[in-house]
Amino acid sequence: MKFLAKSLITVTISILGCLQPALAEEAKKESLTDKALKHEKLGVTINSANHTFAEKYPLQYNSWKATSESTDRGSALAADPRYVVLWAGYAFSKDYNKPRGHYYAITDVRDILRTGAPKDENDGPQPMACWTCKGPDVARLIEEKGERGYFDPKWAKYGSEIVNSIGCADCHDTNSEEFKQGKPALQVARPHVLRALNTIGWKFEELDKHGKRPAVCANCHVEYYFKDKKDVTFPWKNGVDVDSIEKYYDEINFTDWTHALSKAPMLKTQHPDFEVWSQGTHGKNGVTCIDCHMPKVKDKEGNVYTDHKIGNPFDNFESTCKTCHEQSKETLQKRVKEYKHDVKETMIRLEDQLVKAHFEAKAAWDAGATQDEMKDILTAIRHAQWRWDYSAAGHGNHFHAPDVMLRTIATGIDRAADARAALGVVLAKHGVATPVAIPDISTKEKAQKAIGLDIPKDQAAKDEFLKTVVPQWEKEARAKGLLPAEDAPKADTK
Ligand code: HEC
Ligand code: HEC
Ligand code: HEC
Ligand code: HEC
Repeated sequence: MKFLAKSLITVTISILGCLQPALAEEAKKESLTDKALKHEKLGVTINSANHTFAEKYPLQYNSWKATSESTDRGSALAADPRYVVLWAGYAFSKDYNKPRGHYYAITDVRDILRTGAPKDENDGPQPMACWTCKGPDVARLIEEKGERGYFDPKWAKYGSEIVNSIGCADCHDTNSEEFKQGKPALQVARPHVLRALNTIGWKFEELDKHGKRPAVCANCHVEYYFKDKKDVTFPWKNGVDVDSIEKYYDEINFTDWTHALSKAPMLKTQHPDFEVWSQGTHGKNGVTCIDCHMPKVKDKEGNVYTDHKIGNPFDNFESTCKTCHEQSKETLQKRVKEYKHDVKETMIRLEDQLVKAHFEAKAAWDAGATQDEMKDILTAIRHAQWRWDYSAAGHGNHFHAPDVMLRTIATGIDRAADARAALGVVLAKHGVATPVAIPDISTKEKAQKAIGLDIPKDQAAKDEFLKTVVPQWEKEARAKGLLPAEDAPKADTK
């Protein structure tokens, strides 16, 4: 069977634990990871200007640019207004969209209400960290300014420097001889990522190509937090599964924000795609992100190249799933749909429990509950929502590891039950009648009103920022040669 033979090969060259012996010469040289571990500059030159690669690498460049064809930026809050309540008190309750093509990463981080409307370089709600997974100017700037010089300022400080969306130098050592010869020369040049990969035994320079391929995606498609409200840090010390990361956050007493209704010390999951993939069937069998999202394809003349239009693998079925599986596209698509349905349905049950728990905790506080009475309840809410978010925040999780997601959600429902059972006792003790009333949260707008947000005001400030500040950033970037005049990303695609 074609599928089995191929899977056996993939298993033998499995990425987990199979390290290629480094050449004697290279072993002597200090690696980028070694320098990152010592918090030294990496000594790399990053050419972040994506347009400068168009001429020499037309096949890769044009397919990369075609990620602009994925334009749909649906509001996840409108699709499921419960999110607004779950994130009450945190900027995600204002604005949160589903992902679209890599081409739009810079535009989208400028447009999102979460980054606010800074008027100058010291203004605004967010730190520089919010640019960190948006493009190759980040690695360039960290190298130029050092990690402190990059992470310390506010987000608006380098708006005119971070203008290229996720591109060539995010994944390649574009100055290497190999790359000049048209070979991949994959590279990670974000020091915090090199350190994190090293923590889980994935020292980048020692990985073979099957390890390096998913490791470049781990630049960004991972769970992270802002240490000291500034430094992007991956919580991988105990492992990458939901329990290990929860334990890590509990041990360091980390909290992203205090929930506006329940006062629970909350965690916000980012997008643990790499982590979840590594626990799923494909990850465990050494099938990487690249096999499905960046397959080898042929141009009209028959030249083989890597398709850089990262998107839905079903758009390219013959070059992705079909290289290993014998089933038809329809059969596999149906399987994926079923996974999605099962994971999503269970996830919504957990959301409903969490919404109730947040409002019940608020009712308990309002009725005079004490810190002592609430402490364990709030921890249970924290854990339950962490488990929900770990499964919800990776948009491919339902396919990458459906079994892992179902267990994650089930244990979340269990923690929500712990919280609500204890809340029942506290509410009864303080004479609060149950069920506690839940306001109308049937739309995004109603839910935002229920938690007291003033979105039209935020949006007006954002519109002004996009009209005045952003064009200035782009003008400066064009003058520096970071952007070509005609290709400047437009900030008006809402
Ligand atoms: C998100 C990561 C990523 C980005 C962004 C990216 N590449 Fe790649 N690139 C890869 C991967 C992965 C491969 C395949 C590696 C392998 O075969 O081992 C690859 C392969 C290549 C190759 C080797 C030949 C081939 O087609 O397999 C070239 C040349 C290349 N890319 C150029 C570029 C250029 C130019 C850009 C910017 C327009 C770019 N890449 C952007 C990840 C990326
Ligand atoms: C430098 C950071 C970065 C790197 C490296 C990166 N991504 Fe992304 N990726 C993002 C961001 C940010 C988005 C969301 C963009 C938006 O919606 O504006 C995204 C979106 C996506 C999407 C959704 C695309 C769509 O059209 O809906 C897929 C799939 C994806 N990435 C896969 C990958 C894979 C596979 C790799 C590794 C080969 C990778 N990414 C490397 C940051 C990155
Ligand atoms: C075996 C194939 C396969 C592998 C391996 C794989 N993916 Fe996916 N991925 C998919 C499919 C299929 C979907 C779309 C699921 C759907 O349509 O419901 C998807 C969805 C996604 C999405 C969400 C896209 C969106 O627009 O919502 C992201 C992001 C993503 N994958 C990133 C990654 C990263 C990063 C890796 C590696 C760490 C990876 N994937 C490994 C097949 C794969
Ligand atoms: C490089 C080879 C390869 C590619 C590409 C690949 N798969 Fe797989 N797939 C595997 C292997 C290996 C297994 C595990 C088989 C086993 O455990 O017996 C697997 C298992 C599966 C399963 C069963 C998973 C489970 O948990 O029961 C499904 C469904 C599946 N793949 C769908 C897809 C889809 C959809 C794509 C394309 C988006 C895809 N695969 C791409 C190799 C691949």
